[in-house]
Amino acid sequence: MKTFSETTAILNQAPENEPERQLYFIDRCREILLEKAAEKGRDLTACVNTFGCQMNAKDSEKLIGILKQVGYRIKETEDADFVLYNTCTVREHANVRVYGRLGVLKRYKDENPDMVIALCGCMMQESEVVDKIRKSYRHVDLIFGTHNIYKLAELLFRRLTEDTMQVEILESAERSVEELPAERKYPFKSGVNIMYGCNNFCSYCIVPYVRGRERSRKPEEVLAEVERLAKDGVVEVMLLGQNVNSYAYDFPKLLKKVSEVPGIEHVRFMTSHPKDLSDDLIEVIRTTPKISRHIHLPLQSGSSRILKEMNRHYIKEAYLSLAEKIRTRIPDASITTDIIVGFPGETDEDFEDTLDVVRKVEFDSAFTFIYSKRTGTRAASMPDQVPKEVSQERIERLLKAVSETASKRTGLLVGTVQKVLVEGLNEKDPDYLTGRLSGNSVVHFAGPKELIGTFVSVKLDEAKGFYYLGSLTEQED
Ligand code: SAH
Ligand code: SF4
Ligand code: F3S
Repeated sequence: MKTFSETTAILNQAPENEPERQLYFIDRCREILLEKAAEKGRDLTACVNTFGCQMNAKDSEKLIGILKQVGYRIKETEDADFVLYNTCTVREHANVRVYGRLGVLKRYKDENPDMVIALCGCMMQESEVVDKIRKSYRHVDLIFGTHNIYKLAELLFRRLTEDTMQVEILESAERSVEELPAERKYPFKSGVNIMYGCNNFCSYCIVPYVRGRERSRKPEEVLAEVERLAKDGVVEVMLLGQNVNSYAYDFPKLLKKVSEVPGIEHVRFMTSHPKDLSDDLIEVIRTTPKISRHIHLPLQSGSSRILKEMNRHYIKEAYLSLAEKIRTRIPDASITTDIIVGFPGETDEDFEDTLDVVRKVEFDSAFTFIYSKRTGTRAASMPDQVPKEVSQERIERLLKAVSETASKRTGLLVGTVQKVLVEGLNEKDPDYLTGRLSGNSVVHFAGPKELIGTFVSVKLDEAKGFYYLGSLTEQED
């Protein structure tokens, strides 16, 4: 352990500007950890466990980048010297899982007292959560939020030099630092943030509170990042934002420009809010084959009354006509969605409206959720919270309806040849590969692992509900 005056001197000498300041702390952490590794006579390891959405997945790549730079070897299991949970709080269930696992980590720490346990992400932006951890989970070493992930090395330095739990949560984003090292999970594809935060305040949703106000990155910055990625071997990017349609600088134009970056063969994007999906966007997708034939268009509810309570700014009929427009103009595009059942006050009639939209739009697939009350949101204090059994029954009926429309949609492509990006080995059978269609469904087919990360043509032989079985082919569609 460094002496107090050594530590103070290091802190005093730290540069003020970013990213220099973090690069400085990366070096200082590295010195300390190298010493520790020598004492132990082995590598130090780190494990990052990511909950939640693509935003968190992207943040974790940045966090892993920093952890590698400070000298940890990354491993998949939690018997590591540094364990970080990047948390999600969009539904209660996500929180419960984190508390459960913290109990398990305590046992690892009893065996390895030097272990550093860190928590970050959306859950940490809630003060009740941090209070609870301070009180009841005292084996946690480091807590930070969604606005300061770039400071991991600085915070870790503090934890390595002071023997107390370090907590730093910022209320809003003071800056975002994109120049630090990041480690991609896949060498051939990558998410790219085009915006952070959300201003929509859907009444059930906690994201605007934990991710802060909407901030769009400048198109030049996004394009420069995509160019860097392409030079580094990335062939597919996914542009990320809670509502890409409210991107401050012309989203359709950005999408088109990204698709023109040399080396980029396919561009995805997530998520589109139905209230402001423009004709321009539809047109750009229609006329640009490199843009994915997939629009994720969260419905949330099919009842205009509930949609109003949800603060979604569209009615059932507007959603239906938007979906119809997409189906007409881009017939090969898939439409997927998110649906919540059991929103406060949802009646059987409201739920029938949701089923009606599912049947009319014929979603290619859908994520379905039982409404979960989130403290601080407007819906949390609404009357008539729906009983659990009612929501349970509704979600089962909904799933059935969705699997019917999904089978019908997947059935349409059987027999065709599609270009797919080979993403990896099949999880169940390593002689099989798994690829993803432009429309986002997956296909399993026999093939050599050397094809991973490349685009190949696959004949879709059989539809299995949400996915396909296929065979490699030379033939073009
Ligand atoms: N920005 C995206 C959604 C991000 S959260 C959008 O607007 O579409 C992902 C999904 O989680 C949401 O689409 C919604 O269906 C679901 N969700 C959000 N808050 C929820 C809550 N309190 N209970 C249940 N599901 C919720
Ligand atoms: Fe949540 Fe609505 Fe923002 Fe999506 S658009 S993140 S559902 S508030
Ligand atoms: Fe969860 Fe945060 Fe994403 S709450 S869904 S990880 S933005």
